[in-house]
Amino acid sequence: MSKTAIIYSFNTKKTGKIAVQVQEGFNDPAIEMINAEEITEDLFLSFDRIIMGVPTWFDGELPNYWDEFVPALEEMDLKEKKIALFGLGDQKGYAENFLDGVGIMAGILEAQGATLLGFTSVEGYAFEGSRALRNDQFLGLAIDYENQGSMNKQRVTSWIDQLRKEFA
Ligand SMILES: Cc1cc2nc3c(=O)[nH]c(=O)nc-3n(C[C@H](O)[C@H](O)[C@H](O)COP(=O)(O)O)c2cc1C
Repeated sequence: MSKTAIIYSFNTKKTGKIAVQVQEGFNDPAIEMINAEEITEDLFLSFDRIIMGVPTWFDGELPNYWDEFVPALEEMDLKEKKIALFGLGDQKGYAENFLDGVGIMAGILEAQGATLLGFTSVEGYAFEGSRALRNDQFLGLAIDYENQGSMNKQRVTSWIDQLRKEFA
C-alpha cells in the first residue's frame, strides 16, 4: 500500500493551517503529518506520495528548514515519488518573487526524478515575477494569506479534488 505524508514545519502558523486544511480535506487518517524541521532522509523516502508545504522567505528563498534539507534531497533517487507542493507567498509585498520557493523546490525534486503534481492556474493572482511558473501555471498550489486569505478554503478544496485524480 502506498504511504502519503504532508510535510511542513510544525513551527509555522499559516503554512500549518493550510497543511491541516489539506489533511481535513482528504479525510484520510492514513495520511501522516510530518514535521519538516525533523525530517530525515529515511523518513522522507518512506513515503510514495508527498505533499510539501513550502512558504517563500528572504526575498525569493526557501525557509531555513527546507534549505537545510536540500543537500539530502540532492542525493536522493525520487523516480518513484509523486510529489505535490503547496506554497505560501505575498503577491503584493513580494511581487517580483511571488512563491519563488515553490519553483526552487520543484527544480530540485524534478532533477532527482520526482513526478510533480497539482499544478494550478495563475488566474486570479497579480504579481511581477515568480520562479514557480511553467506554461502559465504554478508548479503547485499558491496560497496568499496576506492579500487573498478569504480564497484559501476554496483553493485548497479544489486542489484536493485535483490531487485525488492525479495521485490515483
Ligand atoms: C521576511 C519575509 C520575507 C518574505 N519573502 C517573500 C518572498 O520573497 N516571496 C513571497 O511570495 N512571499 C514572501 N514572504 C511572505 C511569506 O511567504 C508569507 O507571509 C507566508 O504566509 C509565510 O508563511 P509561514 O509564516 O507559514 O512561514 C515573506 C515574508 C517575510 C516575513
